[in-house]
Amino acid sequence: MTKNVDFLVVGSGIAGLSFALKAAKHGKVLIVTKASADESNTKYAQGGVAVVVDKKEDSFEKHIEDTLIAGDGLCDRTVVENVVKEGPARIREIIDYGTNFDKTNDGLFDLAKEGGHSEFRVLHYKDITGFEIERALLEQIQNHPNIEMLTHYFAVDLITQHHLGEFVDKSTTDITCYGIYALNSETGIVDKILSKVTVMASGGAGHIYSITTNPTIATGDGVAMVYRAKGKVRNMEFIQFHPTALYNPGEYPSFLISEAVRGFGGILKRHDGTEFMQDYDPRKSLAPRDIVARAIDSEMKKSGEDFVYLDVRHRKKADILSHFPNIYAKCLDIGLDMTKDMIPVSPACHYMCGGIMVDHVGRSSIMRLYACGECASTGLHGANRLASNSLLEALVYAHRIYKDAVKDFEQNTIPEGIPDWDEKGVQLSNEDILVTHNIREMQKIMSDYVGIVRSDFRLDRAMRRLGLLYEETESFYKQTKLSVKLCELRNLIQVSYIVVKSAMLRKESRGLHYTTDYPEHAKVLEDTVF
Ligand code: SIN
Repeated sequence: MTKNVDFLVVGSGIAGLSFALKAAKHGKVLIVTKASADESNTKYAQGGVAVVVDKKEDSFEKHIEDTLIAGDGLCDRTVVENVVKEGPARIREIIDYGTNFDKTNDGLFDLAKEGGHSEFRVLHYKDITGFEIERALLEQIQNHPNIEMLTHYFAVDLITQHHLGEFVDKSTTDITCYGIYALNSETGIVDKILSKVTVMASGGAGHIYSITTNPTIATGDGVAMVYRAKGKVRNMEFIQFHPTALYNPGEYPSFLISEAVRGFGGILKRHDGTEFMQDYDPRKSLAPRDIVARAIDSEMKKSGEDFVYLDVRHRKKADILSHFPNIYAKCLDIGLDMTKDMIPVSPACHYMCGGIMVDHVGRSSIMRLYACGECASTGLHGANRLASNSLLEALVYAHRIYKDAVKDFEQNTIPEGIPDWDEKGVQLSNEDILVTHNIREMQKIMSDYVGIVRSDFRLDRAMRRLGLLYEETESFYKQTKLSVKLCELRNLIQVSYIVVKSAMLRKESRGLHYTTDYPEHAKVLEDTVF
């Protein structure tokens, strides 16, 4: 099948859906998503959206400052200012679309606090904010006459002039995206989808690690596709580990214990019940995530235990239940009553702070290709994302992309002769288990050698081992009929390679990248771009 559309969106989280709703006023939109319509990182976001709504206590300046401090010197100040200041208007739009946020008895927004925030400014809907936003956006999308969604369609590769036989490398300045090849995972057929504008909104890459809070779809597909098409990626060494995933051996992915629990008064404790965060940062349990995750890692290494505790027992049961019904129910499921028991927690890979490099309106280095949401590197997060800034970033950039993309999309023509997907010579695999083995091996390499604390020696080990997996996977890929699992393995290995290479290039410790070989900040501040 070949499809021709005005706007192609890859991914159905907050970034893709909010762009689609706006672009649909100007042309036909096709959303391609690899699983069901609502399966995205957005759906699992618990804490909420950081935004300045209470101008008495809070201010744009404070939110900007908190974001810059968390980002440890590497944020793009203009981007931070744009996102913070444009945030309230974008939030009003999703409220108009039907999103609910919790309110107090006085009818004001019930604002929560999370690590690194100097004020209460996190809008939330109980502890399932992302689920609520996704619900409201999908309701708007369904039955929209100008929006079609293909679920269980896996974007395999970007189509560029490379597919017309032209030579393209990193120095090519006019690489142009004409759409994607996408695998219909129900039929096994690869379709050609041609578009005037493509928006990559494919989410994160949590599954490069064996412990992650991300749903299984988070396999770095967008970054890998853009990298293969010779587009630019930035700051991929900054992988955020959420300090408090529920420690529940055997559960994969890990269940998140929202940072809002610490904002609500939750205290991190050792196994003997003593607090420890005062030894690491004056902000204690509400320090930015990089600091808290490193502190927990250090406590676990010292004690030899696999987790620390989060204690919220001093808060009233009724308040715990009304703020965190989902977390309470989950804990109860595994035999823990968080109103009476401390919650065992440990860090888990949570968010990719780098990604596809984009400019201030979301344009990637590839023409006609934008990137939005977790897969994009806008410059907002710097070396460490401030909690609950990501949903806001997605909304603001979806709007900026929309404004830019609709200006002259009608002039974008598709060249003749783009070939269909070629699968001559490939065979059906009867050894899918090898793909599973390679995914596990890759996750173990990343977890063992490229975690919260890094060193040259460990990164070097990781690189050599990934090299072998890369060669095996590429050779298997060339000979084998495509499957989603195989494509995901290929993308995961590609992204792992980019993370390790970026980490090797950063000869300093900054934000989420901490290396024992260079424990200080470097004198020169630089992005890692390649
Ligand atoms: C959380 O609820 O702790 C996650 C929020 C985020 O990652 O921004």
